[in-house]
Amino acid sequence: MSYFSRYRDYTPLWSDTSKPTPRRYVFIALALLAASAALNIVLYNKLSHRWQVPLDNYQEINVQPIVDPKLADSMSHPNPQENAIVTSLYTDSYATAIATLGHSLNRVNTTASRLLFYLPEKISPRALCIATSTGFVPHPISRIPPPRGGKGVFWKFMDQYSKLNIWTLSDSGIKAAVYLDADTLVLRNFDELFSLPYNFAAVPDVYVDGQGWSLSFNAGVLYLRPSRAVFEDMLSKIATASYNMHEAEQSFLNHYYGAEALRLPYAYNANLAIKSRKPEVWADVKREARIVHYTLVKPFLEEEDNSGKKVVEMRRMESNVQSKMGQYGGLFQEEMQDWVEVWRDTRRTFADALLECGSHSATPPSPDSS
Ligand SMILES: *[C@@H]1O[C@H](CO)[C@@H](O)[C@H](O)[C@H]1NC(C)=O
Repeated sequence: MSYFSRYRDYTPLWSDTSKPTPRRYVFIALALLAASAALNIVLYNKLSHRWQVPLDNYQEINVQPIVDPKLADSMSHPNPQENAIVTSLYTDSYATAIATLGHSLNRVNTTASRLLFYLPEKISPRALCIATSTGFVPHPISRIPPPRGGKGVFWKFMDQYSKLNIWTLSDSGIKAAVYLDADTLVLRNFDELFSLPYNFAAVPDVYVDGQGWSLSFNAGVLYLRPSRAVFEDMLSKIATASYNMHEAEQSFLNHYYGAEALRLPYAYNANLAIKSRKPEVWADVKREARIVHYTLVKPFLEEEDNSGKKVVEMRRMESNVQSKMGQYGGLFQEEMQDWVEVWRDTRRTFADALLECGSHSATPPSPDSS
């Protein structure tokens, strides 16, 4: 019999058998540490993210217009030979959105020329017809593939590097261009942008999560002075520069122009995320908004469309928008109404052209036929 087994039963009364062993102490210490870390994270989110920047404490104390109307009138107006508005079509499901965007530009009397960048191998004749029915001129482009075979790039952004083709418009004499994502809608004229002397301008991004008001810009609306030399320079760097591949060209452009971009007011890229983040800021931005960016909800896309490729037929568009009204607790009803109102006007004004598009093929050309 060993010493221990002999004395196992001899336990003094004051010795509590449930007394934590050193191992238990370690466990309790770790649990306390984890609880304290969790509490810190919660408090950090609550305190620091609720009071991050003045925009989170927004008050409408400045009611001046963002552009002096007299000054804007006296500026030279866009010349269609030298100024262009560009959007892009990478999948058929955005064709009606672009028709609506085009008509929203008609409604504010835009005089710059309008170009629709599209990937000929991906877009059906019908979608191209619809997208160009209200003023955009088709402009086929070559796809710029994401570097390293797209490794790490979010699948929805695989074609997004093609956007860089805007810089090549200097070849056709374009001196200033405004790029608009296909999920934008124009509410007011933004001609003043074409008079900017800067090479590049964009609007700071907004996130609904803890990141909130960002210093990096959103690439959905860009102002730029096209330059073939800059284009070549960018292409030579997309694969070697260090940036977040997930966000594709947006992240690259933020690294390329991070310190040189002119930051524009939110009115030029009124991203729905602003409303979700801080309705008071949205109310003020909306008063002057030139361009609304339908980031969080896209009225023209199928409700459960994760592929982004299902096409909502024109006759189903209004009911599609209706079905999306309740998203985000109905937060964007007014903006959805704005969009559907312009869509209705588009369909009315361009009824014949849109009807004619129905006779075009709804499948992209096969690679052999091109
Ligand atoms: C656009 O031009 C038309 C015709 O000149 C004019 O009636 C209309 O008020 C203008 N619209 C805007 C938004 O300036």
